[in-house]
Amino acid sequence: MITKCLFPVAGYGTRFLPATKAMPKEMMPIVNKPLIQYGVQEAMEAGMRQIAFVTGRRKRAIEDHFDRTYELEDQISGTTAEKNLEEIRALMKECTFSYTRQIQMQGLGDAIRTGETLIGDQPFGVILADDLCLGDGQPVLSQMVEIFTKYQCSIVAIEEVPQQETEKYGIISGKLLEDRLFIVDSMVEKPPVHEAPSNHAIIGRYILTPDIFDTLRNLPPGKNGEIQITDALNVQAKKKMVLGYQFKGIRFDCGRLEGFVAATNHFFNLMHASKPSQSVK
Ligand code: G1P
Repeated sequence: MITKCLFPVAGYGTRFLPATKAMPKEMMPIVNKPLIQYGVQEAMEAGMRQIAFVTGRRKRAIEDHFDRTYELEDQISGTTAEKNLEEIRALMKECTFSYTRQIQMQGLGDAIRTGETLIGDQPFGVILADDLCLGDGQPVLSQMVEIFTKYQCSIVAIEEVPQQETEKYGIISGKLLEDRLFIVDSMVEKPPVHEAPSNHAIIGRYILTPDIFDTLRNLPPGKNGEIQITDALNVQAKKKMVLGYQFKGIRFDCGRLEGFVAATNHFFNLMHASKPSQSVK
């Protein structure tokens, strides 16, 4: 049973400046819900109710979001506006939230290593909230938990991307084990297009076994001088087994404007489709 999910949320979100000048990028809303809330919802649905944030300076709005807002709640008590808080209240009832700070931005691997103090010695999920996933039938992290139950090893979610986009992602090469599931031979962080071993890109959903922390501690800086989770997973793949899972569903890269707008349209249409009597003004 995986009970903890780690959210690295210390990054700056420079692509969204000026919006992210004083606001965490994870608080950017897709329709009326911040990105981070979609992620926490997905973790909770996968049974991970201990939510661990690796946070940073200027990110306190995230802590406030997963807490009571007494004055506001008192004001809207008994009004129709209260309905808008139902989901977040349910999350707050079901989950616990803990925080630690990454002092210096030294890459995703460093952020995950910083989270060890909150995770301890157990397998855990990782969600990068920028990647907003809509699972087909089942949330993506829940799909991955099923695979973990069977194989008990680290798993990365993968998606086929156009070849010219491979340099934006960690890319795996591997052998098909069963439908949608690859045994990873190797993986490389953001390779130049002509050096990408495939077009199977890692997206922001991971299940990691806790030995990853030792590996991260002993890892030299990789791409861009940062500690890369991809490099640590490569070590695990060589020592034991790492799986790449081609998830069922769609993903929006909300760390980029195009993906953010596409997600906004998609989720708005979903909301609107479920309320057919309302017209859009
Ligand atoms: C990180 C990882 C990369 C992965 C990507 C998914 O990169 O380092 O391997 O493909 O997340 O979103 P970032 O987007 O943080 O640069």
